Amino acid sequence: MSHIPVMLDHVVEHLAPSEGNVLLDGTFGGGGYTRRLLAEANCRVLGVDRDPDALKRADDIVASYGDRFTLLPGCFGDLDRLALGVSETKLDGVVLDLGVSSFQLDQADRGFSFMRDGPLDMRMSRTGPNAADIVNSADERDLADIIFQLGEERESRRIARSLVQARKATPFETTLQLADAVENAVGGRRGKKTHPATKTFQALRMFVNDELGELARGLCAAERALKASGRLVIVTFHSLEDRMVKTFFADRSGKTEGGSRFMPQVEQTGPAPSFETLRRVTAPDTAEIATNVRARSSRLRSGIRTDSPAWDVEIELPVNLPDLTEFA
Ligand SMILES: C[S@@+](CC[C@H](N)C(=O)[O-])C[C@H]1O[C@@H](n2cnc3c(N)ncnc32)[C@H](O)[C@@H]1O
Repeated sequence: MSHIPVMLDHVVEHLAPSEGNVLLDGTFGGGGYTRRLLAEANCRVLGVDRDPDALKRADDIVASYGDRFTLLPGCFGDLDRLALGVSETKLDGVVLDLGVSSFQLDQADRGFSFMRDGPLDMRMSRTGPNAADIVNSADERDLADIIFQLGEERESRRIARSLVQARKATPFETTLQLADAVENAVGGRRGKKTHPATKTFQALRMFVNDELGELARGLCAAERALKASGRLVIVTFHSLEDRMVKTFFADRSGKTEGGSRFMPQVEQTGPAPSFETLRRVTAPDTAEIATNVRARSSRLRSGIRTDSPAWDVEIELPVNLPDLTEFA
């Protein structure tokens, strides 16, 4: 199955590509956004992805657009450094479409899906500790915290206890082994429409790929890389991500009630707004959700860079979790 780009028309409208622009697609995936941007205006697109498989899907774009397209393997948390290596000017636009692609979900051997049996992996970049490393070695409390905070799973404690018991007999190696263990832990499907392991899988995927950390770094990197009037467009699929993006734009545009959440004490003398926001959140319409169920939980937020310097303020994560490097 291929990947259907989410809110594609809205992304183009918010990025407003025009002749001579240098745009960065920080989540190249199947190249859905990149292809449309290149067709929309005589611009240049830098396509970033941390998944080596995604980068193999760019051949037709290179053939059609030549040096208007540059592929950059890496993480969007580093996007300013990646862009600096290939573009002499700052960027006119950055788009991030978070999470995983349908290509990744559908490929059993990537280990993202509880519907397909494969190795319990879930690493987008195929490097670092994988999901099995976490499930087999995290202590019960950390495991429960990961599942609760990133999956918003109310049964997290019960699931963690059960996984820690089960791994003593047989360490977890496959996706279906984990899906079955979670289902047993919560006492079966009990008439639920979604699989009982949905939230646990989401939480592990987000943890293994440090997705919230990457988002925090990516927002700040885009703030540094964009030129004045450049646009930043973010599509999220998770309430924690949307909250981070919303807070970022509210803080950076000086709209946070009572001043910046991070710098209330310097409200009067704090940094000048580095973004201006035009619209509130954009959600997909019912027609899009009917044809692409993946779009259901998506939210788009955007901002336009002012000419003030990037803030020297890191973004606080909304969760407190063990360090991924502990599992390396
Ligand atoms: C939802 S898909 C993007 C789909 C794309 N917009 C399209 O229309 O085809 C997300 C992609 O971003 C990549 N990705 C996720 N987080 C990343 C990160 N921090 N750095 C670089 N790539 C990332 C994933 O590997 C995946 O290929």
